[in-house]
Amino acid sequence: MTKILVVDDEANVQRLLQYTLKQAGYTVSVAGDGQEALKLWSSESPGLILLDVSLPKLDGYAVAERIRADEGGKNHVPIIMLTSEKEVEQKVRGLRAGADDYLVKPFHQAELLARMRGLLSRFGPQEGGATRARPPLGKMIAFYGAKGGVGATTIAINTAIALHTELDRKVALVDAVLQFGDHRVFLDLGNDRKSVTDLMNAPQVDAELLKSVLVKHDSGVDLLLAPTSPEEADLITPENLASVLLMLRSMYDYVIVDTDKRLGDLVLSILDHADEVHIVMTADLSCLKNVRLVLEALRKTGFDPKRLKLALNRSNAFTGISVGAAESALKREFETKITNEYRVAISAQNTGSPFSYSKPDAPLSREIVELAHAIDASFAPQVAAVAGVPAPRIGAGRGR
Ligand SMILES: Nc1ncnc2c1ncn2[C@@H]1O[C@H](COP(=O)(O)OP(=O)(O)OP(=O)(O)O)[C@@H](O)[C@H]1O
Ligand SMILES: [Mg+2]
Repeated sequence: MTKILVVDDEANVQRLLQYTLKQAGYTVSVAGDGQEALKLWSSESPGLILLDVSLPKLDGYAVAERIRADEGGKNHVPIIMLTSEKEVEQKVRGLRAGADDYLVKPFHQAELLARMRGLLSRFGPQEGGATRARPPLGKMIAFYGAKGGVGATTIAINTAIALHTELDRKVALVDAVLQFGDHRVFLDLGNDRKSVTDLMNAPQVDAELLKSVLVKHDSGVDLLLAPTSPEEADLITPENLASVLLMLRSMYDYVIVDTDKRLGDLVLSILDHADEVHIVMTADLSCLKNVRLVLEALRKTGFDPKRLKLALNRSNAFTGISVGAAESALKREFETKITNEYRVAISAQNTGSPFSYSKPDAPLSREIVELAHAIDASFAPQVAAVAGVPAPRIGAGRGR
């Protein structure tokens, strides 16, 4: 009989859940606060945890984080977060903390039991009692241009293609420059193609709807395009976009996001959730000034600097500022340097066929492949460790 650990401080909820779960054939233990939850988790090894978010002593997020840290990727007890807050941010936070699913109170007991059964069949105890590891979420990589025209879109698009064609990753590319997104131009796609706006008109976004809005590029990368007209951008809230990105991460190894420059709520939310943020710049004074400002703004939001990478584009172009001088002005080195190849870049743009796809052997394309390898190198071992398998592929086991 599977044991369920119920963690909730309200006696009514405890009683109700205990009754429902026992009726359904589970054994139940109950914790009234976060510390007790951790104690019971380690002494009783439950098969699944129902975890309230707001708890005395240690809240639900902290409990989930501690459990995942202690499991170290070797085991994985399924956790369903119970929350009274509907906001998608809470959901994202819960899932980041290590929850597998969430339910908003009040919920119907049939829904609870169905979600529990789903998780138990995915993660349920194997022989010997060990639990399976969760297939990890795909990695989200954001490209942010320090000023207009530095090449953020060029690098985002070509890196997405290289990750797919050279490294065989499953990749979604999102044009999050909502007002003036360029991907239709760079990829030769007409205004008749669907965009993120088509998701916002639906009452609820599910995986099926999301798939129907994605556009398949000839390279094999799936695209979520920006709206066709600037006024539609306002329909897309940071919360909606965050939940769409999260859904994409559950479907792809990599979600590559070309972000807008304005550091408003929408962009900050993308940067906050990204596993890596690549700031694209050129070696000129206004970029140096802007990069400093962006680094400072992100520092204030508590952004982990390890997630941040600097990409110097057109690194060999004459700007009057050498690579070394730019690095010493910023007091850090560039993780990526991409050379100036005006003809390749502009002809790719004019023909609507990215160089990584149409000219994979061009020096510029080879540099982008190096960038793709660098991105992949920082995630593949980590993800393999989480999955507890030696496989080098992120998201191994999911269909591609
Ligand atoms: N390494 C490069 N060598 C030469 N030209 C480049 C390079 N990278 C980008 N370009 C060219 O620079 C121009 C601007 O590039 P892109 O549109 O990618 O920049 P962006 O930062 O996304 O600009 P925006 O602010 O409009 O979003 C394009 O014409 C592109 O072809
Ligand atoms: Mg751009």
